[in-house]
Amino acid sequence: MKRYFIHTFGCQMNVNDTLRMSEALAKSGYAATVDYERADLIVLNTCAIREKAEDKMHSALGRYRQVKLQRGAVIGVGGCVAQQEKAKLLERSPWVDFVFGPDAIQNLPTILDRVAKDRVRVVDTAWVDSEEYVFPRADPETSRGKVTEFITIMKGCDNVCAFCVVPHTRGREVSRPFIDVLAETADLVKVGVREVTLIGQNVNSYRGGISFAQMLLRTCEVPGIERVRFTTSHPHDLSDELIEAFRVQPKIAPHFHLPVQSGSDPVLKRMRRDYTVEQYLERLAKLRAARPDIAVTTDVIVGFPGETEDDFQKTLELTERAQYDGQFSFVYSARPKTMALLKEEEWGVVPHEVKVERLDRLQALQKRISQQLNAQNVGRTLEVLVEGRSKTDETRRFGRTPQNRTVNFDGDAPAGAIVEVHIERSSASSLGGKQGRTLSSPAVVVPEKPIDADSCVVA
Ligand code: SAH
Ligand code: SF4
Ligand code: F3S
Repeated sequence: MKRYFIHTFGCQMNVNDTLRMSEALAKSGYAATVDYERADLIVLNTCAIREKAEDKMHSALGRYRQVKLQRGAVIGVGGCVAQQEKAKLLERSPWVDFVFGPDAIQNLPTILDRVAKDRVRVVDTAWVDSEEYVFPRADPETSRGKVTEFITIMKGCDNVCAFCVVPHTRGREVSRPFIDVLAETADLVKVGVREVTLIGQNVNSYRGGISFAQMLLRTCEVPGIERVRFTTSHPHDLSDELIEAFRVQPKIAPHFHLPVQSGSDPVLKRMRRDYTVEQYLERLAKLRAARPDIAVTTDVIVGFPGETEDDFQKTLELTERAQYDGQFSFVYSARPKTMALLKEEEWGVVPHEVKVERLDRLQALQKRISQQLNAQNVGRTLEVLVEGRSKTDETRRFGRTPQNRTVNFDGDAPAGAIVEVHIERSSASSLGGKQGRTLSSPAVVVPEKPIDADSCVVA
């Protein structure tokens, strides 16, 4: 039997696409391997969000070239860099056999046939608007043994954030019919999944027959579902209806990822984010009033063209005011075809050292805030959905609180159980403690895989 290996870069959308790729490859008679040196087919599922992600993929591609030289492995590049670079990838890396965009995952069997039989190199990066085609129904068996799973509810992005490549790599927004999302959720419950995360580039503009808030509420009603999460919601169209859903439905997990990008209004304006800092904070206050226990995380870019020290100070101020539980922060990276790339000379390029120094200061501040907020949990008893063994210590268990805080604890609860954990320790990124009462047992008990028994590496 032929074997495949998929190397996944980037966001949850890509992680989920990798699962659909593995299903398409199984149809072509391939089996997964964790060892790329033994693979007959190597696929890179790539990310173009920052230059660094692209660099990482090129160095991985260099490594996989050896496998081609040694055993004639077929090499394919999918995902966002594939969509962005198209045939240019074949020119730059002559050992690549095929390039396919995010809309072409279902074409994998045909592409592989053409590569093998016709001995041609293939580029398939056409956009597809048919919902059925773009969102292949997940095979629930792929998720057996998992406690938590992603469900793609829409693709593409119609926003125009000046720094962002995603509208070019994922195309126009297309939503998946809500009936399909609900059916997939019900299928996942049958194989043991208790928590789902609905994903889209901007879930607020979901148009699959009902509003996004209604979609969330309906998902919570699927029997057997304990927690529903989602990502990502853009602050400019975060609706009152969505905030209200948090108030009325406790199964919507109390965690909101609300990317702010900058604490300075002139920077937000150039970024084309379509909100001011005050408007953002007003949304946040409303959310916290509706669900006082909610944890909030955000994304920030430092060193966007034209960002002054004063602008950056405003980002630090906002970080203090918002008291984020966590923050993902990045140095600005110029991306092809974006407005910011076009305008960066006019607005003023921020030197690399300045960007890095600002990032360090911001991350130090956020670390302090995360440490303080996490420390408040010491001495408390929290509800944890168990996901399996701890990644840092195999003798301990790992799970998450409704707020999405990670907890490593002493205990023996099986994956899928919901238990109380008495919190004894905290750091900026996780909590530690001892298992207490079991609140709910898993509906489906499945043997746990060793931690590294996966066909895909996430970098
Ligand atoms: N759709 C999501 C964003 C996905 S990209 C949203 O709108 O929230 C995830 C994060 O990567 C963004 O929130 C932003 O902070 C960061 N990012 C995007 N483009 C970037 C760039 N060119 N340079 C640095 N960071 C970037
Ligand atoms: Fe990119 Fe903005 Fe769309 Fe998010 S909302 S994917 S940051 S263009
Ligand atoms: Fe990267 Fe594409 Fe996701 S650019 S962040 S893999 S949508």
